[in-house]
Amino acid sequence: MISKEPEKVSMKFVTLVSIVSALGGLLFGFDTAVVSGAIGFMQEHFQLNQIQVGWAVSSLIIGCIVGAAFSGVLSDKFGRKRLLITASILFIIGSIGSGLADTFSYYIIARIIGGLGIGITSTLSPLYNAEIAPAKFRGRLVALNQLAVVTGIFLTYFVNLWISNSGDAAWGVTTAWRWMFGVGTIPGVLFLVLLFFVPESPRWLIKQGRPADALPILLRIHGEDLAKKEVIDIKKSFDQESGSIRQLFKPGLRIALIVGVALAVLQQITGINAVMYYAPEIFKATGAGTNSALIQTIFVGLVNFLFTILAIWLIDKVGRKALLLVGTGSMMICLIVIGAAFQTGNTSGPWVLIFILLYVASFAISLGPVVWVIMSEIFPNRIRGKAIAIASMALWAADYVVSQSFPPMLSSIGPGITFWIFAAMSFITFIFTWRVVPETKGKTLEEIELLWTPSGSTPTHKA
Ligand code: BGC
Repeated sequence: MISKEPEKVSMKFVTLVSIVSALGGLLFGFDTAVVSGAIGFMQEHFQLNQIQVGWAVSSLIIGCIVGAAFSGVLSDKFGRKRLLITASILFIIGSIGSGLADTFSYYIIARIIGGLGIGITSTLSPLYNAEIAPAKFRGRLVALNQLAVVTGIFLTYFVNLWISNSGDAAWGVTTAWRWMFGVGTIPGVLFLVLLFFVPESPRWLIKQGRPADALPILLRIHGEDLAKKEVIDIKKSFDQESGSIRQLFKPGLRIALIVGVALAVLQQITGINAVMYYAPEIFKATGAGTNSALIQTIFVGLVNFLFTILAIWLIDKVGRKALLLVGTGSMMICLIVIGAAFQTGNTSGPWVLIFILLYVASFAISLGPVVWVIMSEIFPNRIRGKAIAIASMALWAADYVVSQSFPPMLSSIGPGITFWIFAAMSFITFIFTWRVVPETKGKTLEEIELLWTPSGSTPTHKA
């Protein structure tokens, strides 16, 4: 099985495995974008009021918060692979259920079930990728997950448009939205089937006391010498950790927890999903018509996609920290300009669109992929599952707060001040990254653990 060119063989294997688990990201992206196309039709079909519209959008996120919360404990107990399989089944049930829903409550229940699946995959796909990837390419492979998320968003914008153009308005109200949700079954089934072909995470197997099962997988990834060393390093890291959640609150590891949770929350409160979920509304507020708002939204998806590719190319070269600093700094500038345009009423030219695209590009090279990468690599082996679940739960909860409060903020304090608040949050993210976030590029997961132990370097001066 071990060839003369272990590097080549291993990369093929690891890439394949990572692509499969990144498909989970595609489902995440699909669900982020699908409701924006369906909501207008559903509003008419179910005669929804404003509060129900909000609920139609955010019910999924409630499922995500719960799914993320349980993903750690359950995947530590039953394994990463089994839980990913469960998540794909929940997702399929959610897609079929929301497509077939004959009452609004039935729809909500189906979306929450689908959300449980998304909460689990959003946490486990990057975690699984990080646990299987060689250190040298880990950033890139985990960031593949984010590429899958943005691909899912972008494709879904088109699929929505295509479905809604396939019939007249009456067909839209009765049927089109059902197809929009139902189409999710296809990537869901694909994900489920492919999951049967990937191995369990070697780190999880060693944690279960099954190094003999882990070794052949590590051999395929690293080649013979390195694989044996990895088994020893991983075992050693387990011996040094208690695995209790309390460990996370002790001085050294507390910083890791603060970094993970703070970055998760900051990723959301700097406003990305205000743009992702409400882009057409923002463009309409600048005076654009419905059609032009839709086309501008497709540009947002495209820019997000292209700049995520750039991030994947750069992340293991320039490191996580440089990307975060450049990206959040430039997000802040864009948000200040967008806020000023709204505040002074100068929204008629192309400037709002240009700066929103620049803002999305800046997010896509920084907070978008890098936060998920860092979350999946800064926690020690034994408690990684639980710790990343806490951070991911915080991320979804922050997403819920932003997506619920954005419309009322627009109508109370106005778009100008709202974007300036996001700018202030970007400034805080910049400072936080600069002062607290460590660079993890090129280190093995076991070396990263040493950053948090008293004998290792502290993150502030190692950064
Ligand atoms: C975030 C999502 C967001 C997406 C946009 C992800 O990293 O977690 O909330 O919708 O990026 O590209």
